[in-house]
Amino acid sequence: MLQQLQTKHQPVGQFEDTRFEKIHNVTYNSSLEASNLVAKEIADLIKEKQKENKNCVLGLATGSSPIKVYEELVRMHREEGLSFENVITFNLDEYFPMDRNNIQSYFYFMHEHLFNHVNILPENINIPNGTVSIDDLYQYCIDYEMKIKAVGGLDFQLLGIGRTGHIGFNEPGSHLNSGTRIITLNHITRVDAAPAFLGIENVPRKAITMGIGTVRDAKRIVLLAWGANKSKIIKETIEGEISSLVPATYLQQHNNTTFVMDEDASSELTRIKTPWLVKSCFWNDDLKLKAVTWLSNLLKKPILKLTDKEYNDHGMSGLLTEEGTAYDLNIKMFNKLQHTITGWPGGKPFADDSNRPERATPSRKRVIIFSPHPDDDVISMGGTFDRLVQQGHEVHVVYQTSGNIAVSDEEALKFAEISKEINSDSQKINDIIKFIKNKKGNDVIDSLDVRKLKGSIRKSESLAATRYFDLPDENVHFLNLPFYETGTIKKGNLSQDDVDIMKSIIDAVKPHQIYAAGDLADPHGTHKVCLDALFAALEEMKSEKEYMKDCWVWLYRGAWHEWDSHEIEMAVPMSPDQVLRKRHAIFYHQSQKDGVMFQGDDSREFWVRVEDRNRLTAKKYNDLGLTDYAAIEAFKRYHF
Ligand code: F6R
Repeated sequence: MLQQLQTKHQPVGQFEDTRFEKIHNVTYNSSLEASNLVAKEIADLIKEKQKENKNCVLGLATGSSPIKVYEELVRMHREEGLSFENVITFNLDEYFPMDRNNIQSYFYFMHEHLFNHVNILPENINIPNGTVSIDDLYQYCIDYEMKIKAVGGLDFQLLGIGRTGHIGFNEPGSHLNSGTRIITLNHITRVDAAPAFLGIENVPRKAITMGIGTVRDAKRIVLLAWGANKSKIIKETIEGEISSLVPATYLQQHNNTTFVMDEDASSELTRIKTPWLVKSCFWNDDLKLKAVTWLSNLLKKPILKLTDKEYNDHGMSGLLTEEGTAYDLNIKMFNKLQHTITGWPGGKPFADDSNRPERATPSRKRVIIFSPHPDDDVISMGGTFDRLVQQGHEVHVVYQTSGNIAVSDEEALKFAEISKEINSDSQKINDIIKFIKNKKGNDVIDSLDVRKLKGSIRKSESLAATRYFDLPDENVHFLNLPFYETGTIKKGNLSQDDVDIMKSIIDAVKPHQIYAAGDLADPHGTHKVCLDALFAALEEMKSEKEYMKDCWVWLYRGAWHEWDSHEIEMAVPMSPDQVLRKRHAIFYHQSQKDGVMFQGDDSREFWVRVEDRNRLTAKKYNDLGLTDYAAIEAFKRYHF
């Protein structure tokens, strides 16, 4: 099986046993492709066991990572008759305390994503029980462990990995031979779970988890990791020393484990991030720039000061052979970076554009700025947005989702009560106030009117910000894409309806430029779904519409991270005054200030975070030897 994942399906980055890597791993183009292959391995195992008249014992995980594997298993059950009659499952973990009917419970998750849709026998499903009394817990955990042993142990264990390096809920400090037990969740784990619980204060502090020892006894282990926010912990796990501080490193001692990743998750591995340290490379222009900026960074020297010896000492003698001398290479790479910088994001009219990121013509462009939530436009590209309007382009801002889920009840109540002051007879307003005041627990779905109110709050804030940038209201569009409107954190799947809505706004504007959030870090997050909606629309429109040939797409990154210097294809500098204007525009999004609902693990407010980030991008350019700007917004072009 291990060989199957490795070779039969031609992963992008074949597993190479470099001196750095201590766990077998394969990388695929997409998490979907990879998930389908993992599902196939599980299905083959189930069938193999069926032929032998044996049970197939699966250890299962929850979280975002295995969702597509479960979807594919359900599809195989429905369409190909894959039977789960011989399957016995043991889930890794459950929050404690946690009622199984709570929509945040792993019991609920597993039934929603798998068990309700396949023919598994209910008595064969084992999920740690989050309602066991504290007194009974010790024995309960021993029994769980014994039950796994009694059915012959785990044939296959599916895992995700937490940013703390946890597998199951075995947080840092877990012992190599630990068994099923109750644990205290790490703060980072609780932060990551906070969105699902509508705030960290609602996330349980404890959980029951299978131990490291339990997992290591499995005959086969597959760990899934998607997205850039897993890349650091993946590198530590695969390349680092075995340590209880990164419990997943214990898997280095398991001889039938495969890590299955997408390109973002494996992007920090030495073999991928700095391949010149591992093997001789095929040097294309992108890799050259990556290597040169890396070396400049490492040695803390501007590009133009790097020497032949320094290139040789750092695995790049092959590159020097191709390029001649460090002098030639340095100038070439310096110029390449220099040409990414422009104060004219819509192109500089009547100027030679051969070395500029954008075309000079037409001098007045039609531009769409897609913003997944009502505020990503100003947070991520407020400076560029401001310039585009000031430089006379026809700018349209398109908010893809209502963002209503991120407005707190307190904020909504404030507006409802003000409305009541003005119109005390309104039944609707009274109902909204009553609903919010009576709301108990964090798994209550808001009524439609409450959701509408929350959406309206974000709409008014957006209009305040776009007006500040002198954009006419008729150029601001609110799509309210249907996939988002579930009233819960868990969004629906992207559908053709979403794509059609995207297509019709593109068709109405016929843009020369599209800006969109190229956030790939969270494969299940709203930004990614919004990007998928755009990509699907572009794909369908590129052959249908002639004007699409003239449309260039620029990707910005959201509040959380930035393109690396070598990836940036357009860098728009900001003066200190422009930084202040951007800050001002962000301030209009008042419901997202001061302890917002989806803060993540960064307690800085969005405007602080993004100013730090834009300043850092400018500093990185300066460190490479380029001009010293106050701040820079960065974009990468997407070719479709
Ligand atoms: C889930 C579990 C956890 C998750 C991990 C990654 O049952 O035990 O170890 O696998 O926290 O979560 P996601 O997949 O949501 O990134």
